[in-house]
Amino acid sequence: MPKARKVFVGNYKGGVGKTTSIYQIALHMVEAGKKVLLIDLDPQCSLSEICLARTNIDLDKLKENECLNYVYDIWLQKKEYPSLHVTLDKKPLIKETDEGIHFIPSNIFYRRGGLDDLAQMLKDEFYDLLALQQFFQSSHIEDDFDYILFDCPPSNTIITQGAFLLSDYYIIPSIIQTMSVRGVVHYIKTVDKIYQTQCVDAENSTLAKALFGEKPELLGIFETLKKGTANYDTVMNDLKKDLTKAKIETLLSPIGGEKYVFDTVIHNYEHIARATANGQKVEEYKELTKEIMICIEQKPIKTLIYSGGKRWLK
Ligand SMILES: Nc1ncnc2c1ncn2[C@@H]1O[C@H](COP(=O)(O)OP(=O)(O)O)[C@@H](O)[C@H]1O
Ligand SMILES: [Mg+2]
Repeated sequence: MPKARKVFVGNYKGGVGKTTSIYQIALHMVEAGKKVLLIDLDPQCSLSEICLARTNIDLDKLKENECLNYVYDIWLQKKEYPSLHVTLDKKPLIKETDEGIHFIPSNIFYRRGGLDDLAQMLKDEFYDLLALQQFFQSSHIEDDFDYILFDCPPSNTIITQGAFLLSDYYIIPSIIQTMSVRGVVHYIKTVDKIYQTQCVDAENSTLAKALFGEKPELLGIFETLKKGTANYDTVMNDLKKDLTKAKIETLLSPIGGEKYVFDTVIHNYEHIARATANGQKVEEYKELTKEIMICIEQKPIKTLIYSGGKRWLK
C-alpha cells in the first residue's frame, strides 16, 4: 500500500513564504526521521534552486529526464500515440540534498519550455489532469516516502489542478492582514470547486473519483512573515467567521475540536530568509512541523482500493 501522505502547499498570493516554509518543514521532517519528497510545481523553480544548491548540480546542467517538465512533455508527446506505453524511470527525476531531502526539480531551462509553457500546451480537460496521477500510479513513487509535499505557484493551471486532486491534504501559508486573508477563503473555494467540477458534477465523475479519490482535506492555515508585535486578532476572528460561514471543514486540533489556524506563527526575520537561501534549517519551523505531522497522523488511516494512488476512508 502506498504510504506517502501527499500534501499540497498553496496560496494564490505570491511572496507569502510558501517555498521557504516547504523547504524548512521538509528539513524538520527529515530530522524527525521521515522520508520526504518535495515536488516543485512552480515554473520559477525557487524551491528547485534552493535544493539544487545543496546537491552541487546546476539547474541549467540538468538533463532532460531530470526534471518534472519531462513528465508533462512525455505525456504531451505520447498523446499522438494512444496505444503506446512509455515507462518513466523515476530515478533520474529524484535528487537528494546533502541534508537528505529528496526532490523533483522544475526547470526553467527545459528544451520545450518551463512548466508554465507546458501547462499551456496541456488541454483544459479531464484527460490532461491525469498526467501526474498516471506517473504516480505507474512509478509507485508513493511507496518510497512518508510525505510528498507540492510547492505550488500562485496560479491555477492544469498542472496545479492535477496535483491538487492527487493530494490527500493541503496547507495554506498566509500573511495575516486584511487584504491577504481574503485570498485564503477565495483559495479554498477555488480548490473545492476544482474537486466538485471534476469528481462530483462531471459525467465521468465516477472514473475521476476512482483515480483521484476523496477531496483533499484542508489541514489548516499558518501565519507567516509576521511583523513585530502587531496584533491582528480582529482579522483572525473575521477569517474564522468567513471560514465557518463558507462551511469550510478543516482539521481537527490535536487537543480535539475544530480549528483553522495552526498555533505556531512564523515571524518575519531576516535570518530565516538568509538561512533558507543557504539551505540551512531554522528552529522557528520545528513546532509548526510537529503540529502538521500530528494533524496528519491522527487522521483516519486511508486504504487503497484501486491501484490509482487513490485513497478511500475505510
Ligand atoms: N519568515 C521569513 N522572514 C523573512 N523573510 C522571509 C520569511 N519567509 C520568507 N521570506 C522571504 O520572503 C520572500 C518570499 O518568500 P517565498 O518563500 O519565496 O514565498 P512564496 O513561495 O510564497 O512566493 C523571499 O525573499 C523569502 O526569502
Ligand atoms: Mg514560491
